[in-house]
Amino acid sequence: MAEEFRIVLFGPPGAGKGTQAQLLAEQLGIPHISSGDLFRHHLRAETPLGLRAADYMRQGLLVPDDLTIDIILERVMAINSEEGFMLDGFPRNRHQAEVLDDALERRSRALDKVVCIDVPEGELLRRLAGRFSCRECQAPHSIPQDASAEVADASPFPQCDHCGGELYQREDDRPEAIRKRIEVYQAETLPVLGYYRDRRILAEVPGTDSVEGVNQKVLTVLGR
Ligand code: AP5
Ligand code: MG
Repeated sequence: MAEEFRIVLFGPPGAGKGTQAQLLAEQLGIPHISSGDLFRHHLRAETPLGLRAADYMRQGLLVPDDLTIDIILERVMAINSEEGFMLDGFPRNRHQAEVLDDALERRSRALDKVVCIDVPEGELLRRLAGRFSCRECQAPHSIPQDASAEVADASPFPQCDHCGGELYQREDDRPEAIRKRIEVYQAETLPVLGYYRDRRILAEVPGTDSVEGVNQKVLTVLGR
């Protein structure tokens, strides 16, 4: 049986949250809940939520709490309470963090660990400029920057390593949206780390190593 873990993967845009979450979900056997993936799913399906979130996402701004909190908590609470979960991209401000804690507490549960993946800004810019994501499963892929233009124009489009879906560049991976997302992270999301540090559940992991190297470090702070 999978071990019960309630984890938040935290870090700036491009730190590798999605990349690590995919590995960890398999290694730990717990479901991965990504707020960004959920919004992109709604965007693609042109649901009312997707249409309302679209402009904020395109600009690299946080989607307002009244559109975000309910859909994430609904997912978290739908999970069998013994199963655990891994959140990626939520919480992103103090209010979201408090609401999550309250909801878990009502079920006599609490987060086990918040793992922050730390990557310097120059490397984030480099990674996001070369990122292609899968339209189907949303898995991120790295394409070296000098090959990115070629890949973006390729026909048929290159395919996802995991599910064979079509790869595309996210609209918020344009340079001005990337800059805004980093700015928003520093102003609104980074302060949440203090909240978790005070609760003694924060682990900070350098994210500049290889994907496998970062994965080992994350497993170590999770006691695995
Ligand atoms: P979201 O989808 O969460 O985006 P993000 O936080 O900006 O993070 P990214 O997905 O860009 O990066 P990542 O850390 O997952 O990195 P990845 O693994 O892909 O949110 C998007 C938008 O949705 C927000 O801007 C907001 O509008 C809205 N939103 C979402 N949640 C919200 C919330 N809670 N409240 C309000 N609004 C919300 O890796 C990046 C690249 O690097 C890839 O190419 C990957 O292959 C490569 N890579 C990964 N690890 C390594 C490594 N170790 N070495 C070299 N390359 C690596
Ligand atoms: Mg991601």
